[in-house]
Amino acid sequence: MQMKARKIAEEERLVIRNYLDVDHREEMMRLVRQGLSAERKWLHCKYLYDQRGSELFDQICQTEEYYPTRTEMDILGRYAGEMMDFFNLRGGDLVEIGSGANTKIRFLLDSLPPRARARLRYVPFDISETALVDSARELLDIYPELSVLGLVADYTRHLAAIPEGRKLLVFFGSSLGNFDETTSLEFLRGVAAAMSRQDRFLLGLDMVKSVEIIEAAYNDAQGVTRRFTKNLLANLNRELSGDFDLDLFEHHAFFNPQRECMEMHLVARQPVTCRLADLGLEVRFAQGESIHAEISQKYSRERANGLFRRAGLAPARWFSDERGWFSLVELTRAD
Ligand code: AVJ
Repeated sequence: MQMKARKIAEEERLVIRNYLDVDHREEMMRLVRQGLSAERKWLHCKYLYDQRGSELFDQICQTEEYYPTRTEMDILGRYAGEMMDFFNLRGGDLVEIGSGANTKIRFLLDSLPPRARARLRYVPFDISETALVDSARELLDIYPELSVLGLVADYTRHLAAIPEGRKLLVFFGSSLGNFDETTSLEFLRGVAAAMSRQDRFLLGLDMVKSVEIIEAAYNDAQGVTRRFTKNLLANLNRELSGDFDLDLFEHHAFFNPQRECMEMHLVARQPVTCRLADLGLEVRFAQGESIHAEISQKYSRERANGLFRRAGLAPARWFSDERGWFSLVELTRAD
């Protein structure tokens, strides 16, 4: 598929292309209206990640209770060399979907000798142009032999922007867990479509474990996660001229054992009516009524293998910590 992109930067070692076309504000207005008018209210989890939300998420990763980031980094520290043996003898693209900050990719890049890094092109794919450009420039400073092609794009829409050619793709953080099953499959099929037979895909998954440990990770004692969830309402207030009183809503995060996922909700403490002036929308809440804001799927190998099979992917190697809390799965195309 041919995709249109604006060229943002073209330097010897850095090229940035921007694929964002749809009107983000229009989409936000449509999704928020749809979610808050529904019988069971919901909001799209992407609106948790405005600038403040991204800062709060970084803080979540530092809390005692939030084990996924720390565990994934342990696994990277231990197995980065094996994961990167893909680039031992031959070059290619290292494509990071949802690249954000560059903390995790540096484990992979550090594991290669400079002459192998020189054969490789790092391709960060992220929706935030500023985050992508800042992080790319940092990497170019650290690794003078590296070249970077940055793709400013939405991974639910623009996976076809990933260039052809030999590649290792990575998608860290168990961000797949934020998607419902249909969207997960769509995403994985999109990645599979961007791969040829020789390519590899390294996917981070947070695994099923004791409910206490999982629930604590989304209910940290310092209340960072509570602030993170509530910030969704602050984002709506700012972007859509809303009047949500954050004190009237409570963060409620619990494990749903049937679906094996965490559910994050905002629950009204009392009956309240809120307005979003830019939408001309009035939203009534009964006491205890909630807005479903986020899910975070936890995976068994069985569930994950089922998804892979349906997406046309096959696991080649599982990299995990000793407790089996988190996994980085190396996938190939199944055919
Ligand atoms: C960024 C999707 C991996 O689900 O664990 C953390 C988001 N939300 N605490 C997760 C999140 C509340 C996080 N992911």
